[in-house]
Amino acid sequence: MSQYIDVENQDGVQTIRINRPDKKNAMTGGMYTGLADAIRSAQSDKQIRVTVVTGVKDSFTAGNDISDFVSQSETPVKTSPEKSKSRGLAPVPDLLDALDSADKPLLAAVNGLAIGIGTTMLFHFDLVYASDYARFAMPFINLGVVPEAGSSLLAPLAMGRQKACELFLFGEQFNTSTAIECGFVNQAFSVDELMPEVKQKALKLAAKAPSAIRRTKNLMRRFGPDLGEVMKAEMEIFAEQLRTAESKEAMQAFSERREADFSKFH
Ligand code: COA
Repeated sequence: MSQYIDVENQDGVQTIRINRPDKKNAMTGGMYTGLADAIRSAQSDKQIRVTVVTGVKDSFTAGNDISDFVSQSETPVKTSPEKSKSRGLAPVPDLLDALDSADKPLLAAVNGLAIGIGTTMLFHFDLVYASDYARFAMPFINLGVVPEAGSSLLAPLAMGRQKACELFLFGEQFNTSTAIECGFVNQAFSVDELMPEVKQKALKLAAKAPSAIRRTKNLMRRFGPDLGEVMKAEMEIFAEQLRTAESKEAMQAFSERREADFSKFH
């Protein structure tokens, strides 16, 4: 398991905590793998019936570690889960594969910041709960890159094309009420109530008929267009964008704590 991924199993519920608070839970390659491995381990463990993923302090996750993006922009492109396991890059496809092949219910308890993949991974969960303190964003455009994690398909499906365009093209933060309106968060709780409420919901699911739960979940994840193909296309374009001068300017601006200047690009 990864250094920054904590796992606890109790009463049929696996709780996975993303735990790198000093970097707002920004995800490194090892953290994606740790999260993916934890989710996969629950599928073969008869004691576990439900998985809950959450964060710590003020963060669910502030997205991909931006310093990993910088090093990826210098390395050859690899996009499939098999390839991602053997590379030193952030293995996002591996996590998405683990989320999408999970048979048991996946719940997210979004305690705070959910930026980039912190928001887009939520489209792969069955139930999403958030604190009224949580903030979401899909700021790919601000980094000179494009949507990932199947979100170019799943966001318009959840909320409609125009709403998805608003969130993707402006890349601004939005709150839990907007996320509920957009259809990918089920319910809001206060910060203090979030985990107790989500644990109650997880325990309720853990007591239900397990094979019926698994089959119900599986029946609902047959997407019309091929999600795998969409994710592959996104990853290829994302990797190409990472190599552009505009993306390099955006990453540089983040590290220098200034606004990116895109005026010289066309
Ligand atoms: N990758 C790497 N480091 C990150 C990070 C990320 N995605 N998000 C936050 N951090 C780091 C900061 O660099 C800072 O590190 P430092 O203390 O060593 O300087 C630390 O986490 C705290 O972040 P800070 O920016 O000081 O906190 P804040 O409350 O002012 O702002 C955010 C929080 C999340 C709004 C801001 O950090 C941010 O915009 N992060 C980038 C989010 C992003 O674009 N993610 C990728 C999407 S594709």
